Amino acid sequence: MFLIVLCILTLSFDCMFAFSNRIDDVIVKFIIETMPILFPPSRISLHLCISYDKIFKCFTCAHNTIKLSRRLSNLYLMHGIHNNVIPDFDRRIYDDLEHQNLYVLDLDCNYASEMLRQLDLNRMFVAPMRWLLLQDRCNMIMDYADDANITFTYNDSILDIFEDLAVYPDSDVILAKRFDDDFFQLTSVYRPSLQRDIIWEERGNWTVENSLRLRTFDVASARRRNLQQTTLKSAIVIINPESANHLTDYKNVNKDPVTKINYPWLLHLINRMNATLNLTIVSDWGYKDKNGSFDGLTGLLSRREIDLGGTTMHIFEDRIDEVKYVPLRTDIRLSFVFRQPLLSTVKNIFTLPFERNVWIAIALFLVLVFCSLYTSMKWEYYRNTMKKSSAIWKHTNIGQPTFGDDLLVLLGAFAQQGYSYEPFRVSARIITFMLLVASLSLYAAYTANIVALLQSPTDSIKTLSDLLNSPLTLGADDIYWCRYVFKTFQDPIRKAIYEERIEPKGRKSNWMSLEEGVKRVRNETFAIHGTESKIYRIMQETYEEHEKCGLTEIDYINMDSPYLPLPKQSPYLEIIKYGAMILQEYGLKQREEYRIFIKKPTCLNQGSFISIGFTECHFVIVAMSYGVLLSLIVFVLELLWHKIIQLKKRFQL
Ligand SMILES: *[C@@H]1O[C@H](CO)[C@@H](O)[C@H](O)[C@H]1NC(C)=O
Ligand SMILES: *[C@@H]1O[C@H](CO)[C@@H](O)[C@H](O)[C@H]1NC(C)=O
Ligand SMILES: *[C@@H]1O[C@H](CO)[C@@H](O)[C@H](O)[C@H]1NC(C)=O
Repeated sequence: MFLIVLCILTLSFDCMFAFSNRIDDVIVKFIIETMPILFPPSRISLHLCISYDKIFKCFTCAHNTIKLSRRLSNLYLMHGIHNNVIPDFDRRIYDDLEHQNLYVLDLDCNYASEMLRQLDLNRMFVAPMRWLLLQDRCNMIMDYADDANITFTYNDSILDIFEDLAVYPDSDVILAKRFDDDFFQLTSVYRPSLQRDIIWEERGNWTVENSLRLRTFDVASARRRNLQQTTLKSAIVIINPESANHLTDYKNVNKDPVTKINYPWLLHLINRMNATLNLTIVSDWGYKDKNGSFDGLTGLLSRREIDLGGTTMHIFEDRIDEVKYVPLRTDIRLSFVFRQPLLSTVKNIFTLPFERNVWIAIALFLVLVFCSLYTSMKWEYYRNTMKKSSAIWKHTNIGQPTFGDDLLVLLGAFAQQGYSYEPFRVSARIITFMLLVASLSLYAAYTANIVALLQSPTDSIKTLSDLLNSPLTLGADDIYWCRYVFKTFQDPIRKAIYEERIEPKGRKSNWMSLEEGVKRVRNETFAIHGTESKIYRIMQETYEEHEKCGLTEIDYINMDSPYLPLPKQSPYLEIIKYGAMILQEYGLKQREEYRIFIKKPTCLNQGSFISIGFTECHFVIVAMSYGVLLSLIVFVLELLWHKIIQLKKRFQL
């Protein structure tokens, strides 16, 4: 009797009236069609409850499960079908491929509410997990309240569970309600925060004829950014306590510049989310202590005591496991800043005016002149002694010309110093004339060039190894995290710079205040390591115009700029990422950076008066000393020779 009633009912309803939770063709089609759009390429894990022993001995159900499996296999999708079991969830959260998973749960199953609670406990609603919940509204309950008209209702109470669940804006939980055989309504559920109620978002619907129709294709982070005045906790790093009073007024910007740049960004982000801010101040970014836990900002983030960081932070290896970085970075640069030493201190500028080829040509020319002059001098002497005619000649030129005479003439002419030789015959005159003209033009070119060279700075120090081998003294701004980072370098050059120059063993270490360092750059051959912008600001305020020339930076720590940190698996990650891009696109990020970071001072007045010191004259003094030394030796030898001759004479007598 009861069976017959049911059969009649089956015929008269649109829904196939089934107590067993069915998977029919329509559901298979629904999953296959919506998946590529709502949940692009996924592995599926279906949690169903198909019973094979209910009144209708539902063979088609089993058949459809196989069909579903086959269809999914045809699409090369990995899938698993769980029936009537709550799986063990523990390790899944660490699965690298989790973002490819789609979980499907049939809400009409008896274990559904228990499973939802388990999922919540295991934090299975956080990104990147995706859930599709199926609800078959055809599974109605007959209400016998009144025998005359039997009403059918659907028990919706399972949805009340969501009031207690942590489905935050990062979650992707879509509820598909099946109303007719071929009509599904799609809603997603989330809550802005624990402080706020859950929100059911209309997403669209699916029908057999029209397939999927979505209300909007916006991603969740765009749809859910209104947090309805949720209070978000954040923390900023302030090292100089005074800075807390000057976060937005651009005063004392050399103190905590990064915090001052990031604070307006934080306000923009919070504002964009329609949230309110609960701000904490900490005194550092956080480092690992002896028992492996972090303090400062990193500690707050890794313990999830705050919802987002308010100050950007460098990416250190040990922090990567504790926090998540968002692509919003402060373009701060730290490097060694120094003035390139003058060329004359590095190289012998006296050889620089001419290229090597010119020097060779000059040498060949001199050899040529030497030979021809010697020949013509000989010839002159020979002719004149032969003739015995010129009285003047006899007065001026005494004796036969020697190589030494020739050499002195050559040097005297070439160095523009004059000589005592007076050419008498035409050939000798032509040779000396050509020698003088050539040396005049060479001399003009040489001196002009050397004046320019005296003032030009080198660009000889370009790399860290140049810096290590240069005569510069190195110092570094005493920033705690720099001390922390400097120690960690293992490559030979950085290690040598740190161990030999910054913190030499047994001598005073070169950590100093930035003011002192910049002052020493001005007065000595010195390089200071620190934040470029801070250094330039001090230079801008204290340096003369010409002292701003030849400034060079060399990166030492070779580290990416600091990024905004968030706790791991933050529900607001995507919204904040999106906000970060907006800040960048709208120029709000750059605005703060322009106001606080200044550029390298421009060198306007390079040609200043330069006094010549010992370094520039080095070569000259060395040459002269060798000359004096040589003459002394020759003098001593001559003296000895003289004595020997005298002794010889005495003994002979
Ligand atoms: C609906 O289901 C819940 C359990 O899921 C149960 O407690 C409640 O009594 C049901 N309501 C009706 C009207 O059957
Ligand atoms: C921010 O949230 C409040 C509280 O829910 C709401 O009244 C207000 O309209 C929201 N503002 C914006 C701009 O969405
Ligand atoms: C870390 O060590 C300090 C003592 O060195 C101790 O007071 C603190 O409780 C320890 N913290 C943890 C988390 O073990």
